[in-house]
Amino acid sequence: MPSAGTADLVIVANRLPVDRVTLADGSPGWRTSPGGLVTAIEPVLRANDGVWVGWPGGTEQDLQPFEFDGLSLVPMTMSAEEVKDFYEGFSNGTLWPLYHDVVAKPEFHREWWDAYVGVNQRFAEKAAELASEGATVWVHDYQLQLVPQILRSLRPDLRIGFYLHIPFPPAELFQQLPWRRQILEGLLGADLVGFQMNGGAQNFVRLVRQRVGHKTHRDLVYLPDGRTVKAAAFPISIDAKGFEELARSERVEKRAETIRDALGSPRKVFLGVDRLDYTKGIYARLRAFSELIIDGHFDVEDAVFVQVATPSREQVEQYRILRDEIDRLVGHINGDLGRIGRPAISYLHSSYPREEMAALYRAADIMVVTPYRDGMNLVAKEYVATRYEDDGALVLSEFAGAADELRQAWLVNPYDINGMKSALLEAYAADERERGRRMKAMRKTVLQHDVAAWADAFLLELAAARGAHGKTVRP
Ligand code: ADP
Ligand code: F6P
Repeated sequence: MPSAGTADLVIVANRLPVDRVTLADGSPGWRTSPGGLVTAIEPVLRANDGVWVGWPGGTEQDLQPFEFDGLSLVPMTMSAEEVKDFYEGFSNGTLWPLYHDVVAKPEFHREWWDAYVGVNQRFAEKAAELASEGATVWVHDYQLQLVPQILRSLRPDLRIGFYLHIPFPPAELFQQLPWRRQILEGLLGADLVGFQMNGGAQNFVRLVRQRVGHKTHRDLVYLPDGRTVKAAAFPISIDAKGFEELARSERVEKRAETIRDALGSPRKVFLGVDRLDYTKGIYARLRAFSELIIDGHFDVEDAVFVQVATPSREQVEQYRILRDEIDRLVGHINGDLGRIGRPAISYLHSSYPREEMAALYRAADIMVVTPYRDGMNLVAKEYVATRYEDDGALVLSEFAGAADELRQAWLVNPYDINGMKSALLEAYAADERERGRRMKAMRKTVLQHDVAAWADAFLLELAAARGAHGKTVRP
């Protein structure tokens, strides 16, 4: 057993909260990483004394642990080969599409799997080195599903939690994976395995029973060595009060006005904010919007669609294809429907600070979130948190985890373009009372179930999962 480190809480995630980038003057610097995982975990580490182990992007090899904005970060290096086979390959060419309803076709390659095993081994060894005796290690997401089992074999004294930020697929899809048993056994190294939705937890327990042969009862798995593993749902959330406070600030309010002016003060602003990912349904939503203009329901003077799409996983072929497709679609729509100074779609690839995101949400009358499948979707919750006057409208896919909680949104099936057009139009035309009624209810939900409540629930359950030994982490 390796000797213990000093950290009472170790967060292990593929991404660090910041990415290594080259600044304008050519010097190396840091930039906030995109994605829901970082948004959710950062406040948890701030509230606890701990370290975060993760990859800062790129292939730089000699990075040392460092402090960033009060957080203790331990960078993991990756070779060019590992980026290709582990990150772009097994994580985002195999698992991501498989776990998202095979929206794109997953590829199965043995060399990608070998790289996945190798990188998981290194992450587990680093966590084992950093964790104090009896510490809590919280492992995150689909890139690191083998870490719990490897870590337990290295450090049986640890309390290990695992949380999956994306959907866990039904058995019919998961079974395609040639390494299905290894993944299930990897996860079973944890004391508590958390999912976004009950369905994911149930899929997991059923698969463990069928494929590994362990006894299960409801949300518990009984292992032959006497350990019990619990699988349960913990729907993730955001720092709702923080977002609301930001939205209420004069600077954000002024910036929101400036954004609307810059858009030509249309009557209504539609907004989409996503990583440029094929699961997000960006193409279909922009088509639906453009057809409403073509059908004469409104005009580019009446409405504009602002689509923020942060480039993501750009070396993966499916993502490159998507980017080209959307570039072409936006070009067509604006070419056909726009007027001078009045594009139908304002399309942006930039990454913004939180304040600018809040201003965009404040500037938008209708937020459009239409993924084909999404673990949760934090953008939907962020929009709701900023609407402190109970105004604005949310059009939300039934297939986003968030739809379970935000029942008062205009819910849509993103595969049904006509249905989506009707919902966009209803949200566009809804009167103040209707919008207020829906938003008020959604705001109550988001403010009550914030990210602190999510982390509390997970860490308390994890503490309970292994009795009284080990150190207690303050959630
Ligand atoms: P995913 O984790 O799949 O990217 P989520 O909607 O759950 O999707 O989370 C996305 C997170 O990334 C949100 O917190 C959102 O504010 C943030 N984000 C998305 N696009 C941008 C952008 N262009 N600039 C800054 N933050 C962004
Ligand atoms: O949960 C969604 C997620 O895949 C996170 O794991 C990840 O940090 C984020 O989206 C962004 O993706 P990537 O790390 O591949 O840039």
